[in-house]
Amino acid sequence: MIVNDPPYNVAVGNANTNNLFKISLEKYLDFSEKWVKNAITIMDKNAHLYIWIGTDYKDNFQPFPDFIVMMRKFKELRPKNFITLRNQRGYGTQKNWMWVRQELLYYIKGNPEFNVDAEYTDIPKILRGYYKEIKGKITENFERSKSKYIRAGNVWVDIQQVFYRMEENVPGCYAQKPMKAIERIILSGSSEKDLIVDFFAHSGTTLIAGEKLKRKVYTFDIDPIFAEITIRRLENFRKTGKTGWQWRNPFPEIENEAENKRWI
Ligand SMILES: C[S@@+](CC[C@H](N)C(=O)[O-])C[C@H]1O[C@@H](n2cnc3c(N)ncnc32)[C@H](O)[C@@H]1O
Repeated sequence: MIVNDPPYNVAVGNANTNNLFKISLEKYLDFSEKWVKNAITIMDKNAHLYIWIGTDYKDNFQPFPDFIVMMRKFKELRPKNFITLRNQRGYGTQKNWMWVRQELLYYIKGNPEFNVDAEYTDIPKILRGYYKEIKGKITENFERSKSKYIRAGNVWVDIQQVFYRMEENVPGCYAQKPMKAIERIILSGSSEKDLIVDFFAHSGTTLIAGEKLKRKVYTFDIDPIFAEITIRRLENFRKTGKTGWQWRNPFPEIENEAENKRWI
């Protein structure tokens, strides 16, 4: 399984890295085509491919629609779904609908298994009234359903986006994805010991989610700072069981250094 979260080609607030870049759409699609090709090469005969992606309304909604069209070139892949994660806090002005969405594309190669149990949320079903006749008896949806809880479907409303009060928060990682979302993805399409790959580690969420769920994970990041953060996050998790640093600095030695210098 591959869970990739590439840069979205949207200038990110005050991002301090060249690797969360904004380039021409043409170059971005070139870059995307290359990594998708690489992904297909390393995927099993039957495998899942998840891609987090964004859209910039200030720039004709690129790259989301362009990316989907580009994906049509890859005949080995079949589109399966287009999930929207609904953030609780968004960004926007008083003159526009608040932007609360985060897109997640889902493709498959071959015919991998899908574990529907992973889709159930903790949200109880509350709406009654879907009556249907079964074997001559009128039954109501509550009697028929397998679970008391609703399925996440392709609009996920039950996942908190990461912010500094949460344990999993990794300071300095602007594009950190919620652990619960990645755990849901991993559980839906893999078993213990399966291999999960993430080409764009950043804060290392896929790695930690995989570690929690006993999967083997390969991940990398072109930016050495994010690669270091990812390694430290795993070490910290193995040592303390904590999934992040909340608001604490993952590089405490830098703070100490500054503190020490004050006294010299
Ligand atoms: C949107 S972030 C990933 C966020 C991640 N899912 C998380 O939860 O923390 C994208 C990451 O891709 C990295 N990146 C950009 N270009 C790359 C490349 N060519 N190869 C590997 N990593 C790259 C950036 O440094 C950045 O950390």
